[in-house]
Amino acid sequence: MRIPVISWILCVLLGIGLLAWSGTRVVPVAPATSTSGQALIGGPFQLIDTNGKPRTDRDFRGKYTLIYFGFTHCPDICPTTLIVMENALKALGKKRARVVPIFITLDPGRDRPEIIGKYIAHFGDDLVGLTGSDAQIRQAADAYKIYYRRVEQPDSAMKYVIDHSGFIYLMGPDGRYITHFTHGTPEQILTEKLKAAIT
Ligand code: NI
Repeated sequence: MRIPVISWILCVLLGIGLLAWSGTRVVPVAPATSTSGQALIGGPFQLIDTNGKPRTDRDFRGKYTLIYFGFTHCPDICPTTLIVMENALKALGKKRARVVPIFITLDPGRDRPEIIGKYIAHFGDDLVGLTGSDAQIRQAADAYKIYYRRVEQPDSAMKYVIDHSGFIYLMGPDGRYITHFTHGTPEQILTEKLKAAIT
């Protein structure tokens, strides 16, 4: 489908705006991919959901998953991205039921199950929120090639923030990586790409 020039200009401006807005908090690092075409992204994880119930990657087999790593105190990028994800998924029509959106915290010290439960309620009915121990979160983030780092902000009410990369991953029903999107992807583009990728 041909997209009018004005849409492209708006997208580019939005992208630049988001990048400027993100400041130093989001450091984009392109996920590594192998030369065989099979990306080395994803893998087993053991985490807990908002009810404190253990969840692993295997629980989501048979569904596509749209996975985003962030933290509930994130002032801008995380909530914006979760809204874009929710809206893009809503526009999927029949394919919507085939996808489970997942939010994995990078701030497990603060983001305990009940905190994440309240947070994700703002972003759709079936968003799955996951946390875990520091080691479990590190393992999951490493599997998805997510950069994150705690940055102290002693003078702020938050005390610290998490620098983190802002990729959205689409994983297949077999748990394998299909593709990823950057956090500035406009929702219409995300919807189109998801429609094309979900069979
Ligand atoms: Ni964030």
